Amino acid sequence: MVSTKLFFIVCTTLLIVSLVGKAFSVENLSLTRAEKQKLDQFKEAISKITFPAEWMQQELTLVRYLRAREWDVRRAKSMLQETVAWWEENNMKDIQNEDWTDVEKDYPLHTDGVDKLGQPAIVYALAEWDLRGAAVQGRMNRVIRWFVKGYDDVHTKSFEYQKLGKTNGTQWNVIADMDKLSRQQQLCIQCLRFYTELGVLLESRYPGAISKMFAINSPSIFQVILGVVNPILSKSTLNALKVLGTNKEEWSKVVYAHFEKDQLPENLGGTRKYAPVWNEI
Ligand SMILES: *[C@@H]1O[C@H](CO)[C@@H](O)[C@H](O)[C@H]1NC(C)=O
Ligand SMILES: *[C@@H]1O[C@H](CO)[C@@H](O)[C@H](O)[C@H]1NC(C)=O
Repeated sequence: MVSTKLFFIVCTTLLIVSLVGKAFSVENLSLTRAEKQKLDQFKEAISKITFPAEWMQQELTLVRYLRAREWDVRRAKSMLQETVAWWEENNMKDIQNEDWTDVEKDYPLHTDGVDKLGQPAIVYALAEWDLRGAAVQGRMNRVIRWFVKGYDDVHTKSFEYQKLGKTNGTQWNVIADMDKLSRQQQLCIQCLRFYTELGVLLESRYPGAISKMFAINSPSIFQVILGVVNPILSKSTLNALKVLGTNKEEWSKVVYAHFEKDQLPENLGGTRKYAPVWNEI
């Protein structure tokens, strides 16, 4: 037991050291001549599809889907068709207007902040998310859908902001505060589905959309989550992921390089105020 724990700590330390200092860059939107030809073929191949959401037919999306499928037009097309089917099956067009009062207070998630480029961010503190409770009460699917609402929200915003000239980037961010993570509440066996399903949805529906993903205040047990999502996440998402430890001086240097404090909640040293978590009586 002791040696296992030590192993995790050593791992985390190595990981943190190896990740810090790697520069982020904005999404590379330049194409080679051959890639441009693939894009044209892709546009032709999907010209008969009726898309249920504006972003799905944008060139940016097509390039991301092609990249996710190694520029194989046929595979990129079926990936996009699957996204269209998923969108309709899950009534994604109404997800923002659904009644979320059953989960929004117990599973706080913020999507109103932006990074220094103007790209939106999903910000949450995982310790506030009682995943075990969700599993036990049979509402894990609901909690996962709540997070998907967050994906949809920042994804839609990222396209809107570009249209309005409010951003100098094309992607969005995720910031997760891992402080006080609990084995029982966030790492139970039934809890792991939360990470795997959201990882799969991210890569299959929103490929290439992540600019930066910060896991802050990560304790050694965060390795468990990393272990389950690592095989699911694409190279580009893993490049965007920075796992930062509990040393505030260290993580703040990395995070504040990309976010103004007025865009971050108080638990991350920011000045943005949110209503306190509403506790059940
Ligand atoms: C950007 O993408 C183009 C086309 O795929 C590639 O040739 C170029 O090397 C990439 N640039 C960077 C900085 O990755
Ligand atoms: C985008 O870049 C321009 C030029 O550098 C700058 O003036 C503007 O403030 C930037 N906008 C955002 C939202 O970062």
